Amino acid sequence: MRYSPLFMLLLLVFPSCEQEPASPVDLTPYVLELPPHFPYPSIPEDNKLTEARVALGKQLFYEPALSMDSTISCASCHKQALAFADDLPISPGVKGRLGFRNSPTLANLAYLSVVNKDGGVPKLDLQALVPIEDHAEMGLSVLQAADRLNEDPYYRDAFEKAYGDLANPFTITRALGAFQRTLISANSTYDQYLMGEVSLSPAQERGRLLFFSEQTDCSSCHGSFNFTENGFFNNGLYTTYEDWGRRRVTGLPEDDGVFRVPTLRNITMTAPYMHDGSLPDLQAVLQHYNSGGTAHPNKDARIRPLQLSEQQLLDLEAFLHTLTDTAFLTDPRFQ
Ligand code: HEC
Ligand code: HEC
Repeated sequence: MRYSPLFMLLLLVFPSCEQEPASPVDLTPYVLELPPHFPYPSIPEDNKLTEARVALGKQLFYEPALSMDSTISCASCHKQALAFADDLPISPGVKGRLGFRNSPTLANLAYLSVVNKDGGVPKLDLQALVPIEDHAEMGLSVLQAADRLNEDPYYRDAFEKAYGDLANPFTITRALGAFQRTLISANSTYDQYLMGEVSLSPAQERGRLLFFSEQTDCSSCHGSFNFTENGFFNNGLYTTYEDWGRRRVTGLPEDDGVFRVPTLRNITMTAPYMHDGSLPDLQAVLQHYNSGGTAHPNKDARIRPLQLSEQQLLDLEAFLHTLTDTAFLTDPRFQ
């Protein structure tokens, strides 16, 4: 039998054909466990959740080889014990380089429509390209990252099982996306309260009523099961924003200082707060809202002096403490 030139070419392009047969793709599904008040998130057609993809994504999440000098992994800035956020205003990347935003929690990312604080990334499955290639984060080209992974028999086999392919920009970002979709936090004290398993303390209950009241309007931006509706607003932090927020993406002056409303789940674990980590603790955040913020032209009308008493600020804080999900912070599936 004679091989056509095209077939010979394919052999060159896919050298693995000459080696032992690749392990078959393992499509055992990974099913998210959710309480009744959580909807099932939409999962992209080209990246269905499977056990093999989630396991590979977890390995990559903790893999320092994805950074230029093999010192930084995703987990360097997204620590499980801190709800996959960090406790510094700005977390250093390779060689101690500093970016300009605070590391956010990665809890319940599966429900994001657009990703990053300015919505600059259209979907989670592309987001990993940003930190891997960013000069101030991991500083490595994703193609180099793929070459490194493909030198390792463990990864060659794991990528084959997960995607029937080698490590490449598509499979690396998809695997990280799959793992990150499993980071569901749905078992806080507040969730247990909703399911009738525990009751709230008097202070927490007063705080809950305030949070969901028109007196504070907190829940009109931080509403729904995830304590955000993923809207974009200016919450009056500055009169002049060094970080333009959404304006960096749209170029529009009306988007100056506008950021995606973050989830408040596990908020006690993710200090310091806001896009630049400038507010050190929850009382500072609550004082900010109570003061009505600055006079920025884009400031949303709901950010206005709230006239809350010291006791009411403490009650709101007590309620925010009920959003901590200790099982999430120690879940062995994420380690
Ligand atoms: C040097 C610290 C650092 C490293 C390393 C890092 N991140 Fe991040 N991450 C951040 C910061 C800061 C942001 C906020 C960026 C923004 O919103 O513009 C962020 C945002 C994100 C988001 C968006 C979350 C949201 O709410 O929109 C995801 C997802 C994410 N990172 C995943 C990863 C993954 C996966 C890796 C590893 C491949 C990684 N990060 C590595 C600091 C880091
Ligand atoms: C108009 C919409 C809006 C309202 C109303 C609002 N927030 Fe926010 N909130 C935001 C936005 C936008 C951010 C992110 C700002 C940034 O990153 O700089 C934010 C950030 C926060 C943060 C910090 C989150 C983090 O991870 O850094 C907390 C805590 C918070 N809000 C609590 C509250 C509370 C409590 C109330 C009611 C008193 C409230 N918010 C009312 C839009 C709103």
